[in-house]
Amino acid sequence: MFLLLMLIAALPVCVTPMEVRSSVTVDNIKGQNALLFCTWTAQVSETPDKLFVLSSKQAYLLQCDVENSPYNCTTGKLLRTKYSLLNSAQGLVSFSISNLSCSDEGIYTCQLLQSSTLHQNSSKSVLNIKAYPSAPSLSNVQTNVQEDSNISATCTAGVGYPNRGQLIWKSYQNGKPVDLTSELYSTSLNVIQPGDDSCPVTTESTVTLKANIKHQNITLACFVVNPDIQPTAPDNCIPSTNLCSETKQVNVYRVKQPDPVVGSGPNVVCAFEKPTIFALSLIVLLRKKIF
Ligand SMILES: *[C@@H]1O[C@H](CO)[C@@H](O)[C@H](O)[C@H]1NC(C)=O
Ligand SMILES: *[C@@H]1O[C@H](CO)[C@@H](O)[C@H](O)[C@H]1NC(C)=O
Ligand SMILES: *[C@@H]1O[C@H](CO)[C@@H](O)[C@H](O)[C@H]1NC(C)=O
Ligand SMILES: *[C@@H]1O[C@H](CO)[C@@H](O)[C@H](O)[C@H]1NC(C)=O
Ligand SMILES: *[C@@H]1O[C@H](CO)[C@@H](O)[C@H](O)[C@H]1NC(C)=O
Repeated sequence: MFLLLMLIAALPVCVTPMEVRSSVTVDNIKGQNALLFCTWTAQVSETPDKLFVLSSKQAYLLQCDVENSPYNCTTGKLLRTKYSLLNSAQGLVSFSISNLSCSDEGIYTCQLLQSSTLHQNSSKSVLNIKAYPSAPSLSNVQTNVQEDSNISATCTAGVGYPNRGQLIWKSYQNGKPVDLTSELYSTSLNVIQPGDDSCPVTTESTVTLKANIKHQNITLACFVVNPDIQPTAPDNCIPSTNLCSETKQVNVYRVKQPDPVVGSGPNVVCAFEKPTIFALSLIVLLRKKIF
């Protein structure tokens, strides 16, 4: 009977535990900050005195004395610029993780402890990183080409994470869209850029087009398409508003054929030029007659 009473007396302590909750901001953009919140309630007898914040990748990030508010929180020396206390109030500690990188993705745990009884409780939150695509840049652009050799360009851009995008090419002639998809040959690969971390988000695409005289004045534009930002490529490349970059106009030149018979060259040129001059004179004459 005495034992039973003891149990009943002990029960409320067991069912009114220290309750802890954690949450993290939803949209966490690479390079920006994330906010993490730990909140708790506890019976007076269960008042915790320590709070630990841990991550799945880096053990202890933060340790706070939470007996009396405002709470005293400390971070590891190396982490001081990365994790900083935002707010500390009764039953609340919030802090920010700055300059998010992909390696900050993971599970964050708020763990409460009452040292005297060793009672503890914890709550986990998942932090996901999102990286927006970046404007593409062009390199190795070859737009002044001899007929039958390759017009080429390389485009490099961040394509986003975790929803990755891709690079697509469009072509224009004298500013108007032309469909050269059957002639454009492009290859893409993911590359690691300085500053990238555990989620490489940079793609490089190289395009080639065998130059023909009908390609005179074309331009090639590279667009990033990504479901989060720009799901399809716009009709025209406007670098200030679209994620795109465009080459300058292509110049295709013909190499003069070596003269088949010595001395016949000038004659060929004359035979070609004379009708033109003749035609022009005719037009001038005709115009004079009309007006
Ligand atoms: C821990 O906290 C959760 C959520 O606040 C609560 O449901 C649970 O009962 C607590 N557990 C203990 C052992 O205190
Ligand atoms: C905060 O905690 C640290 C380490 O636990 C301690 O050295 C420091 O004196 C404390 N500061 C205050 C204001 O209590
Ligand atoms: C032109 O590009 C195509 C496709 O990339 C390639 O197969 C070919 O070798 C290139 N030609 C020259 C002359 O570079
Ligand atoms: C942010 O982190 C990246 C590496 O992920 C680093 O290259 C960059 O310099 C950092 N920026 C700031 C403002 O600390
Ligand atoms: C190419 O563009 C130039 C001006 O940029 C223009 O004078 C020329 O007529 C164009 N040639 C063709 C074939 O479109």
